[in-house]
Amino acid sequence: MSDRCVLILLALVLSVVQVLGHLFQGPTKEVLERTYDVIIVGAGAGGGAAASRLSENPHVRVLLIEAGGSDFMNLNISVPGRASTLVRSQFDWNFTTVPQVGLDNRPIVYPRGFVLGGSTAINQMAFCRGTKDDYDRWAKVAGDEGWSWKKLVPFVRQLDRMTLPADRHNTTGEFDPSIHYNGTVPISVAGFPLTTDPRVINTTTQLPDQFPFNLDYNSGNTIGIGWTQTTIYNSHRVSSATSYLAEAWNRTNLDIVVNTRVTKVLPLGYESGKPIMRGIEIAQSASGPTHTLQARKEVVLSAGSIKTPHILMLSGIGDAAYLTSKGVKPLVDLPSVGKNLHDHAFLGNSWLVNSNDTLDNLRRNATLAAEALAQWKVNGTGPLGLAGGSQLGWLRVPNASEFFAALGAEDPSAGPTSAHFEMITTDGFVSKRVSPPTQGHFFSFITAVISPTARGNVTLNSTDPFDAPIINPNLLGTEVDVAVMREAVKAARAFVAAPAWSDYILSEFGAFGEAHTDEELDAYIRNNTDTIDHPVGTVAMGKGAEGALDSELRVRGTIGLRVVDASAFPFIPSGHTQGPTYILAERAAALILGEM
Ligand SMILES: Cc1cc2nc3c(=O)[nH]c(=O)nc-3n(C[C@H](O)[C@H](O)[C@H](O)COP(=O)(O)OP(=O)(O)OC[C@H]3O[C@@H](n4cnc5c(N)ncnc54)[C@H](O)[C@@H]3O)c2cc1C
Ligand SMILES: *[C@@H]1O[C@H](CO)[C@@H](O)[C@H](O)[C@H]1NC(C)=O
Ligand SMILES: *[C@@H]1O[C@H](CO)[C@@H](O)[C@H](O)[C@H]1NC(C)=O
Ligand SMILES: *[C@@H]1O[C@H](CO)[C@@H](O)[C@H](O)[C@H]1NC(C)=O
Ligand SMILES: *[C@@H]1O[C@H](CO)[C@@H](O)[C@H](O)[C@H]1NC(C)=O
Ligand SMILES: *[C@@H]1O[C@H](CO)[C@@H](O)[C@H](O)[C@H]1NC(C)=O
Ligand SMILES: *[C@@H]1O[C@H](CO)[C@@H](O)[C@H](O)[C@H]1NC(C)=O
Ligand SMILES: *[C@@H]1O[C@H](CO)[C@@H](O)[C@H](O)[C@H]1NC(C)=O
Ligand SMILES: *[C@@H]1O[C@H](CO)[C@@H](O)[C@H](O)[C@H]1NC(C)=O
Ligand SMILES: *[C@@H]1O[C@H](CO)[C@@H](O)[C@H](O)[C@H]1NC(C)=O
Ligand SMILES: *[C@@H]1O[C@H](CO)[C@@H](O)[C@H](O)[C@H]1NC(C)=O
Ligand SMILES: *[C@@H]1O[C@H](CO)[C@@H](O)[C@H](O)[C@H]1NC(C)=O
Ligand SMILES: *[C@@H]1O[C@H](CO)[C@@H](O)[C@H](O)[C@H]1NC(C)=O
Repeated sequence: MSDRCVLILLALVLSVVQVLGHLFQGPTKEVLERTYDVIIVGAGAGGGAAASRLSENPHVRVLLIEAGGSDFMNLNISVPGRASTLVRSQFDWNFTTVPQVGLDNRPIVYPRGFVLGGSTAINQMAFCRGTKDDYDRWAKVAGDEGWSWKKLVPFVRQLDRMTLPADRHNTTGEFDPSIHYNGTVPISVAGFPLTTDPRVINTTTQLPDQFPFNLDYNSGNTIGIGWTQTTIYNSHRVSSATSYLAEAWNRTNLDIVVNTRVTKVLPLGYESGKPIMRGIEIAQSASGPTHTLQARKEVVLSAGSIKTPHILMLSGIGDAAYLTSKGVKPLVDLPSVGKNLHDHAFLGNSWLVNSNDTLDNLRRNATLAAEALAQWKVNGTGPLGLAGGSQLGWLRVPNASEFFAALGAEDPSAGPTSAHFEMITTDGFVSKRVSPPTQGHFFSFITAVISPTARGNVTLNSTDPFDAPIINPNLLGTEVDVAVMREAVKAARAFVAAPAWSDYILSEFGAFGEAHTDEELDAYIRNNTDTIDHPVGTVAMGKGAEGALDSELRVRGTIGLRVVDASAFPFIPSGHTQGPTYILAERAAALILGEM
C-alpha cells in the first residue's frame, strides 16, 4: 500500500472515530476535547428521553452524563420480580430522609436509581400517563396552554406502545387499544394469572358504585379499578435506557459518559445581566480531579428531584440568604429551588387468606424461586415476569367538597378525573415497615395518598457535592393527607367485604387488624406508612417569581440552563411519575429543538 493510501485510510479511520457516538466509562480525553451543543446531566426518565429525542436531529451534538454505571441489563434489573433487590444495591443512591414528623419521626429509606436509566431502571414499573385535570392544572400554574392534556396528546402518542404479555393471553377487556399508539416505550398488562384476578374484577360488578371498572386508566380519566399497565416488554423491564437510549445508541451525534458526576453548573459570562450557565464541572470521586466542559447551546439538568436542586444550590442558584448561611456564594436568588418537595405516601395492608398459592411462597422457598427464574429465562413466563400487582384502582373520597371543607381545606385533587387515593392489589404480604412473616399466606392492598397537600424540601448538609443533601418529603405532614389515607384504608376494607372474597379472606393481619376507631387507624397509619418513591416539584415551573422555571423549563434568571425531570412538576400527577416525566421530556425536547 502506498503512503498516500495509508494516510487516506488513517484519515478515514480517524474521522469515523471522531464522529461515532459512543459509551465512555469515564470522562476521557476524547470527550473533554469534543464540543457539544447540548449537555444533559443524568440518564433517568427525563435525561434518557431528552437525549434520544434531541439526537434524532443529526445536526445536534449531545453529551449525556450519568453518575451511575452502564450495567442496565443486569439480571436483577431485567427480571421484573427482582425489583426489590435493587433498593440499597449498587444501582441506588442510598438516600435516607430526615425523621418524618407525620410518620412518628421515623426517617425512611429513599431510593433513587444510579445507573443508565436512572430510577426507571429500579422502579416498580407501573405505567401511568396522568390525567386530563393534572396537566390542565400544570397549564394554569405555568400560564402555558402547551402543558394542557389536549396539547400534550402528540407527545403522549410518541411515548408508549402496548405489547403482548408474556403468556400471550387474550387481553381483550384489559385496556383500550384505541388509545395506545406506536411509541418508544413498550408496555404490557400482567402476563401471569393470579387466583385473585377474577375476584378483583368481580368486585367491580358487585360494588360498582364505590369501585367502578375502568377499562383504561391511561385515557386521561383514572377513576375506577382496572388492569395495571407496566413498563415490561417480553417479560423484561423497560427503562429509559432499553427504550429511548437503545433507539439512539448508535447515533454518531450522541455520546454517553457514565461513572461521572456533575458537581456544578458554571457561569461562562453574562448576557443582559444574567449568567450564561453553559459550563459544567465534573468529577468521578470526592478526592479525584475535576474537569470542566462547555455546551454550545445549553445545559439540561435531568438529575432528578433530589439531585437537580442539589446541583443548583451548590452552583449558587437558590435562596440567596439561605445559600450564604451555608457558605455558598449566591449567583441567582431563586428562593423556590429545593422547596415544594412532595411525594405519594405508601401503606401496605395485608389479610391472611384461605390459600397456599400466593407469591409469598417465592420469598420463602429458594427451590421455587430458582425454578421461577429458570422458567423466566426460557420464555419469560411465570411469576417473575410480574411487577407486584396486576390491578390497581384510583378513587376519590365520597362527597369530596364536604369532606375537605370539614377539614378546613380545599379539594387537593386537580379535578374530577384525578384521584385522592390509590389502591394496588398484591398477591402476598406487603410492608416497608414489618418484615415478611415466615408463615401464612396473604392478600394485600397498598394504599397511597395520590393528591397530597404536604410539602417538604431538599437542603444542603454541606458544600461537598459528594455529600447527600438533606431530604424532607414531609410525608403525611398534614391532617388532610392522614384523613385521605384513612379513607383509603376504609375503602380497602370495603373492597374485600364484597361477596367475591367471602371464601378467600380470613382476617386482617397484624396492627391493621387492631385498628378500628379513627384514632387507632391514624396511629396504625403513622407507624406504618412509607414512600411510593415519587418525589417531585423541587425546581417547579410557574408564573413569575413563584416558578423556579419558566413554562419552557428554563431556570429563571439564567441563560442556557433548563431542567427536564420530575423536579419541574408544579404538582404531582395523580398517577405514578415515570410516564409524566417522559411526557415532560418529550415536550422539552421539542422546545429545545425549536430553538436550534
Ligand atoms: C423504587 C422506586 C419505585 C418506583 N416505582 C415507580 C412505578 O412503579 N411507576 C412509576 O411511574 N414511577 C415509579 N417510580 C418513580 C419514577 O421512576 C421516577 O419518577 C422517574 O424515574 C423520575 O425521573 P427523573 O428523570 O426525574 O429522575 P431519575 O429517573 O431518578 O434520573 C435521574 C438520573 O440522574 C443521575 N444523576 C443524579 N445526579 C447526578 C449528577 N450529579 N451527575 C450525573 N448524573 C446524575 C441519576 O443517577 C439518575 O440516573 C419509582 C421510583 C423508585 C426509586
Ligand atoms: C441480585 O440480587 C441478589 C440479592 O440481593 C444478589 O445476591 C445477587 O448478587 C444480584 N445479582 C446480580 C447479577 O447483581
Ligand atoms: C449503595 O449501597 C450499595 C450497597 O452497600 C453499594 O453497593 C452502592 O455502591 C451504594 N451506592 C452509592 C451511589 O454509593
Ligand atoms: C414457557 O415455558 C414453560 C415451561 O417450559 C411452558 O410450560 C409454557 O407453556 C411456555 N409458555 C409459552 C407462552 O411459550
Ligand atoms: C379475544 O377475546 C375477545 C372477546 O372475548 C374475542 O372477541 C376475540 O376474538 C379474542 N381474540 C382472539 C385473538 O382470540
Ligand atoms: C412503529 O414505529 C417503528 C419505529 O419508530 C417503525 O419502524 C414501525 O414501522 C412503526 N409501526 C407502525 C405499525 O406504524
Ligand atoms: C449498534 O451497532 C452495533 C454494530 O453495528 C450493533 O451490533 C448493535 O446491535 C447496535 N445497537 C443498537 C442498540 O442498536
Ligand atoms: C394449605 O396447606 C396446608 C398444609 O399442607 C393444608 O393443611 C391446607 O389445607 C392448605 N390450605 C389450602 C387452602 O389449600
Ligand atoms: C419448595 O418448592 C419446591 C419446588 O416447587 C417444592 O417441591 C417444595 O415442596 C417446596 N417446599 C416447601 C417447603 O413448600
Ligand atoms: C425546610 O423545611 C424545614 C421543615 O419544614 C424547615 O424548618 C426549613 O426552614 C426549610 N428550609 C428551607 C431552606 O426552606
Ligand atoms: C450531615 O452531615 C453530618 C456530618 O457529616 C452527618 O453526620 C449527617 O448524617 C448528615 N445528614 C444527612 C441527612 O445526611
Ligand atoms: C367471577 O364472576 C364470574 C362471572 O359471574 C364467575 O363465573 C366466577 O366464578 C366469579 N369468580 C370469583 C372468584 O368470584
Ligand atoms: C410500630 O410498628 C412497629 C413495627 O411493626 C412495632 O414494633 C411497634 O410496636 C409499633 N409501634 C406502635 C406505637 O404501635
